[in-house]
Amino acid sequence: MNNLGFIGTGKISGAVIEAFCSLGDSDISIRVSPRNREKSISLEKKYPGVVRMESNQEVVDRSEVIFIALKPAVCRDIIQPLKFRKEHTVISLVPYLGYSELSRLVDPAKDVCRAIPLPTVVNHICPVPLFRPPAIVTRLFEKIGQPLIIKEEAQLHAIWTLTGLISPFYDLLAELSAWASEKGVEKTIADKYVADMFNSLSYASSVMENPDFKSLSHHAATPGGMNERAGIEIADAEAHKAYRDAADRIFENFRGMVL
Ligand SMILES: NC(=O)c1ccc[n+]([C@@H]2O[C@H](COP(=O)([O-])OP(=O)(O)OC[C@H]3O[C@@H](n4cnc5c(N)ncnc54)[C@H](OP(=O)(O)O)[C@@H]3O)[C@@H](O)[C@H]2O)c1
Repeated sequence: MNNLGFIGTGKISGAVIEAFCSLGDSDISIRVSPRNREKSISLEKKYPGVVRMESNQEVVDRSEVIFIALKPAVCRDIIQPLKFRKEHTVISLVPYLGYSELSRLVDPAKDVCRAIPLPTVVNHICPVPLFRPPAIVTRLFEKIGQPLIIKEEAQLHAIWTLTGLISPFYDLLAELSAWASEKGVEKTIADKYVADMFNSLSYASSVMENPDFKSLSHHAATPGGMNERAGIEIADAEAHKAYRDAADRIFENFRGMVL
């Protein structure tokens, strides 16, 4: 039996819990923290394998693998008073809580790691970068997503930075779909086509062993054709630079925030 505990029952815990519960795996039981009240009560009502605890300490006491999914600003004060055991496995989803500080906070828990699931994990299609995962953590995330082991903490922060570009990605899809609607394409068709076209392009590269995005771009750009023309125009407008600059700012923030 895998006894999983969640401290911080919010958006990302909710998604990870939904992902585990939708497996119908009777070997998984889940304890959730009392906050967020509504979310923890609704998860407990929805899934027989989920039990809402009275306190965070009760989650720790009654779980073997503990997920920490708290906001960075409050996580230290909430974790500090909790009493962990050395047999505990702790998985932190908090971006600005570095490995050393995390290990000190949950001492004497010996198996400590960091992970970046995304809310899309509910569909069981989601890369999950893991830093220093013990085998049990990799196995757990294999059930609900695609674990990706990251060896250096600085690399983990660079990968985490990319997750800050999800909204700009959806904004791009919204912009392109709106453009097609303005040209008379039915909104539902425009939305569906934009979502599925990008999904299909992404999927094709994700199943390649070594996807080379530049060469895929080159391959799609027939000389004098529409892709080549659009590519030049967008590069001239420095749209890609805006993405890089935004990523630089987020990454710099990691350097300042992680002790
Ligand atoms: N959302 C994502 O896509 C994502 C992905 C990867 C990592 N993360 C990271 O995961 C963490 C949580 O993110 P989130 O998006 O899930 O935020 P969230 O929805 O705000 O969840 C945080 C949860 O912590 C609870 N909380 C506050 N004080 C608490 C306490 N004393 N004891 C127990 N729980 C308490 C909050 O409850 P109340 O509502 O009652 O305050 C809320 O349910 C953040 O560090 C975030 O950066 C998020």
